[in-house]
Amino acid sequence: MYLADNNRYKNMRYNRCGRSGIMLPAISLGLWHNFGGVDVLENSRAMIRHAFDIGITHFDLANNYGPPYGSAEETMGYVLRHDLSSYRDELIISSKAGYDMWPGPYGNWGSRKYLIASLDQSLKRMGLEYVDIFYHHRPDPDTPLEETMGALHDIIKSGKAIYVGISNYPAELTKKASEILTSMGTHCLIHQPKYSMFERWIEDGLLKVLREEGIGSIVFSPLAQGLLTDKYLKGIPSDSRAAKPTGFLRPEQVTNEKIKKISKLNNMAIDRGQTLAQMSLAWVLRHNEVSSALIGASKVEQIDDAVKALNNLSFSQVELKQIDDILAV
Ligand SMILES: NC(=O)c1ccc[n+]([C@@H]2O[C@H](COP(=O)([O-])OP(=O)(O)OC[C@H]3O[C@@H](n4cnc5c(N)ncnc54)[C@H](OP(=O)(O)O)[C@@H]3O)[C@@H](O)[C@H]2O)c1
Repeated sequence: MYLADNNRYKNMRYNRCGRSGIMLPAISLGLWHNFGGVDVLENSRAMIRHAFDIGITHFDLANNYGPPYGSAEETMGYVLRHDLSSYRDELIISSKAGYDMWPGPYGNWGSRKYLIASLDQSLKRMGLEYVDIFYHHRPDPDTPLEETMGALHDIIKSGKAIYVGISNYPAELTKKASEILTSMGTHCLIHQPKYSMFERWIEDGLLKVLREEGIGSIVFSPLAQGLLTDKYLKGIPSDSRAAKPTGFLRPEQVTNEKIKKISKLNNMAIDRGQTLAQMSLAWVLRHNEVSSALIGASKVEQIDDAVKALNNLSFSQVELKQIDDILAV
């Protein structure tokens, strides 16, 4: 029988998520890759258990994480049932709908029909009565924003989610979504955008909106799917995401131009006494608006590596400029 480590809350840092009562661990674990039906269940289970043992209380899912679609939620359901059921109140579990999930016009985008049906399916797969956060996964240009936000509001009222959030929404649309939710009496808890040294769009307006609206954020792919680590410096290892047929990082994205930058960043990280993964995580966490860095992992050790980022989160102005200069070339 699994018993969680008694010291699990000793070393983790928890950050307030916008203007809310919720604190999120500075490092959260996402189940996009390596938790699906194609993966080794005992490895996925070991990563979830280990993460919880070191204070990672937040696990992020979506309806279609796998492959196949839905299977990451089934894995989470398995681990909840076997190991974590008695710890449910110590966990923040999120899911989302917004991308392709089932055939036909009701299994994608942002209709009320899709969001409500999808959450019901997610709850069944995970064996849960509610999720802690339910997201609209991406903007839908064709569905009225009032309909999508109305569905999120009603989902909270139904008790099937405690908080709601949005993901991949640009700054202006985030403001509108937040205002609609507020007008209905629901606060938008959180935004989930992509953010890393290679993907800095949130600095151009979104962070300001989040601050003004009191929305927290959890940034995904902070390691650029593994590029911002030392793993690709000597080529593409056979067990890496770029080498796996089911990985979203494709070998052609591992370009010489990127490797040159990664190599310089890696030298900087060594000078700071960190791994590049740790420096990359510390870098995304430097904004007050970023409550958590949402990592992925294929091995237990990568989760330990990530959490050690918390030992050195500060950057001098000179270091920040040096990073900007490396990225700008
Ligand atoms: N809202 C959205 O639209 C959206 C989109 C994408 C992701 N997400 C969320 O964000 C989460 C994280 O995304 P991500 O997996 O792309 O994040 P990431 O942290 O940028 O990349 C994780 C990958 O990097 C490699 N890695 C991690 N730590 C390492 C280390 N210390 N040394 C070497 N390699 C390391 C591993 O890949 P290897 O297999 O190569 O070992 C790992 O699977 C997802 O699980 C999901 O919850 C959300």
